[in-house]
Amino acid sequence: MSHDVSSTYTLDREGTLVTSLLRYDDLPDEALRQLREAVERHALRYSSGFFPSLITRASGCYVYDDQGREILDFTSGQMSGILGHSHPDVVQTIHRTSEQLIHLFSGFMSPPVAELCRELARLLPDPLNRVLLLSTGAESNEAAIRLAKLYTGGFEVIGLDASWHGMTGAALASTFSAGRKGYGPPMPGTMALPTPYPFRRPDGAGPTYELDMLDAAFETLDRQSVGAYAAVIAEPILSAGGILELPPGYLTKLKRKCEERQMLLILDEAQTGVGRTGDMFAFEHEGVTPDILTLSKTLGAGLPLAATITSDAIEADCHQKGFVFYTTHVSDPLPAAVGLTVLEVIARDRLKENAREQGNHLKQGLIELQKRHECIGDVRGRGLLIGVELVADRESKKPVPELGNRVWRRCFELGLHINIVGFAGMGGIFRIAPPLTVTRESIDLALSILDQAITESLDRFGTAG
Ligand SMILES: Cc1ncc(COP(=O)(O)O)c(C=O)c1O
Repeated sequence: MSHDVSSTYTLDREGTLVTSLLRYDDLPDEALRQLREAVERHALRYSSGFFPSLITRASGCYVYDDQGREILDFTSGQMSGILGHSHPDVVQTIHRTSEQLIHLFSGFMSPPVAELCRELARLLPDPLNRVLLLSTGAESNEAAIRLAKLYTGGFEVIGLDASWHGMTGAALASTFSAGRKGYGPPMPGTMALPTPYPFRRPDGAGPTYELDMLDAAFETLDRQSVGAYAAVIAEPILSAGGILELPPGYLTKLKRKCEERQMLLILDEAQTGVGRTGDMFAFEHEGVTPDILTLSKTLGAGLPLAATITSDAIEADCHQKGFVFYTTHVSDPLPAAVGLTVLEVIARDRLKENAREQGNHLKQGLIELQKRHECIGDVRGRGLLIGVELVADRESKKPVPELGNRVWRRCFELGLHINIVGFAGMGGIFRIAPPLTVTRESIDLALSILDQAITESLDRFGTAG
């Protein structure tokens, strides 16, 4: 029924591609055309749309598309690939482990799972000592919220209003940055806390404005509450919301607010955990240990691996009350083995330190660009999680989503992929987050591409607005 037309793919009699083997970067034009058409006809659009080209290979800081273009990936995949693409140690671990263990009955434990639980507990401060290994960030937050509900007996969950915690039930209910409209009622008891945004502080507000606002916000929340608080969930740096760092003192005060109300503090370090910000965990920066920590994206460095971590006391209480979080891929050995490799490589290659060093270089470079481009309103973030906000001018701070789009498109044409955060009212915000393995040369190249893209976008349209 089919015949080989090359060693890399197979066509049936009508010339339709039926399977692709081994080398995606060696497909002939006709096969690529068919695959692009398959995307157009058969892929369900889960966000605004897809890139027109197919990515056929990824290695280190680069992805390569079907036109043979080399693109610097400064989004680390979907903010997960902190070791770069196809890191040799990860590839080797996948080979080695998959010959022995891939997936098991959910109640079975295995050496890599036991070791990763122990390793995470060793890396984390007391009392974070009990680890549940899952697959996605949303799942890790679902588990955290279920633990908090069972432990406290409450059900009310407070999230920051620029948050992103995932696309499922309770995680989605606490996600305020996007995706809420059109799906009916979210989880009852979900409440929003205004996100600190120092760049857009009201005129005349002092340096403690965001901390002071927390008191006012909790007064409002307390009036709404039916007396059944369970948790506050927060990202230490709100990433999808625009790279908004919680200001100094904020987490300390938030933790105190939680303690006063016997509710738990859940910190979601999907993007900030495992070295990204220059600390192993972003909460260390302020020295506030959460009651429950969730890790995901970065822990698997490209593979689906997540963790929900809490204290012996909370674990024991919930276990005694019959805690259940039983999923198909809970405690799967293959991703756990990859997680161990990720932690090993981070330590061995001093990648946390590299994140700090290259992050400083990147930030400094962006501040230099800011001196030359009036449209760069703000440069913010820590380590290799940096945000750049474009504005019409620094006085009005008027958002310029169109300029953001132009710059983003031009960067892509020139070989740099950075994210733009499309959050209503905030205009063009770039999230710049290369793998922790990034070199100074790659950062300098990215800076020069961004510089050129801004210059050309402004030249072409003559205005930032
Ligand atoms: C902070 C944060 N938490 C949770 C999630 C959800 O993770 P996942 O998409 O793996 O479910 C994301 C995803 O972007 C995130 O940024």
